Amino acid sequence: MPREPFILLEDVSKGYSVGGQPVHALDHLTLSIDKGDMCALMGPSGAGKTTLLNMIGGLDVPDSGKVMVGGLDLSRLNEMQRASFRKRNVGFIFQFYNLIPSLTAYENVLVPVMFERDQRRSRAEELLDRMGLSRRMDHRPSELSGGERQRVAIARALMNDPPLILADEPTGNIDSETAREIVSLFRQLNDEGKTLIMATHDRMMAGKARSMLRMRDGRISGIKASPRSSTVHLGSAQYQTQARE
Ligand SMILES: Nc1ncnc2c1ncn2[C@@H]1O[C@H](COP(=O)(O)OP(=O)(O)OP(=O)(O)O)[C@@H](O)[C@H]1O
Ligand SMILES: [Mg+2]
Repeated sequence: MPREPFILLEDVSKGYSVGGQPVHALDHLTLSIDKGDMCALMGPSGAGKTTLLNMIGGLDVPDSGKVMVGGLDLSRLNEMQRASFRKRNVGFIFQFYNLIPSLTAYENVLVPVMFERDQRRSRAEELLDRMGLSRRMDHRPSELSGGERQRVAIARALMNDPPLILADEPTGNIDSETAREIVSLFRQLNDEGKTLIMATHDRMMAGKARSMLRMRDGRISGIKASPRSSTVHLGSAQYQTQARE
């Protein structure tokens, strides 16, 4: 029986004009990713990885084509509806953490629920504890190491318990030992049912994923699904894989 993909892109294009020259950040991209996948996005700088993550997370909209996440057509949502989609469904993790410098670790984790009456303070504490940061809660980002900052950012991404985690070069700025810890944490989250997509140049990280999509010039140039995987189905028959029944 065909399964409903969690993420589905149909003929998605996104272009920019740079100095009068058109740049195809995403060039008629068609792909789907199943629920429960842990997918590494690889490819050279400028290939379109960040642009793709931004489309899937509803941070940006395509010029043409359709982006569906969890049965919801993001292309049909207005800006407010997309903000609400992101809040409920997506946890973002960035290379440079994007923490608020004037807030403590604990306050940063609470940012996603800032405007809610029930602020679930105990959840923020639990998450920081899980990240091994129970003794760093009152530190500001400048008083934390790179790995610690990224773990605060992961706790923040988990605050609303989203089904989807999008990480853009999450280990791009930290040492290899800490990178390993973060990858193992991602594996745990995936085992708990979260779908993860991560853009990375890090082969170690990609090696721990269930599937791998390679991009070049806004297109998919390669795909690999490990036997325990999953699920990257592409429009082009050439790349079609179905590793799991
Ligand atoms: N806001 C923008 N204005 C103009 N061009 C842009 C913009 N955002 C992205 N681009 C262009 O789109 C293409 C894809 O960019 P993108 O950031 O998605 O690449 P990437 O694969 O994430 O690269 P990296 O590995 O360096 O992060 C690049 O050629 C980039 O210069
Ligand atoms: Mg990028």
